[in-house]
Amino acid sequence: MDAVVIYKSKYGSTKEYANWIAKELDCPVFEVKEISKDDLVNYDTIIYGGGLYAEIINGVSLITKNFDKLKNKKVAVFSTGITPLDCRDYYDKMVIEKNFKPEMRDSIKVFNFMGKMILDELSLPHKTAIKALKKLMSGKENPTEMEKLLVELCDKDGNFTDKSAIKDLIEYVRG
Ligand SMILES: Cc1cc2nc3c(=O)[nH]c(=O)nc-3n(C[C@H](O)[C@H](O)[C@H](O)COP(=O)(O)O)c2cc1C
Repeated sequence: MDAVVIYKSKYGSTKEYANWIAKELDCPVFEVKEISKDDLVNYDTIIYGGGLYAEIINGVSLITKNFDKLKNKKVAVFSTGITPLDCRDYYDKMVIEKNFKPEMRDSIKVFNFMGKMILDELSLPHKTAIKALKKLMSGKENPTEMEKLLVELCDKDGNFTDKSAIKDLIEYVRG
């Protein structure tokens, strides 16, 4: 099995998971900018990870735009985010629909991990985006469950990364 882990990480939590996974599988790990789509042919198994930003898995277009080249490979994608993992509608519907076309959904296996958000460390554009989202969602008269959750998440501050969460992905790749 020739596997590779590729990731894009703004604040470090996706990088941490990528390194844990690569160490466990004893395979190379690259930041997305270090690898080109032509390099993907060299691997049988591709593991891609990115943080969630407005439900988009950061950098996942490396996989989705090159889906035709990856059809005979094992592809696993992981997200890191601050939405609790038991929000299955969020992950299994919204995140899947926003990132993967229907024809991709059976062949790309997706895993979700908890990431980190330290409010003081956010870039100014990210701080501004979070503030604006909170203001918008807090102003709703009859907020949906999702809108209520988003208001809560805007204040979520901390590191929720968990190395043991990679177990299922490792089993999938080895299986
Ligand atoms: C502007 C912004 C938007 C975010 N959007 C989401 C989101 O839609 N869903 C989620 O679960 N987490 C969201 N997060 C939290 C990040 O996904 C989380 O901090 C992740 O661990 C970042 O990974 P990275 O540092 O490796 O890029 C957001 C964070 C910021 C700053």
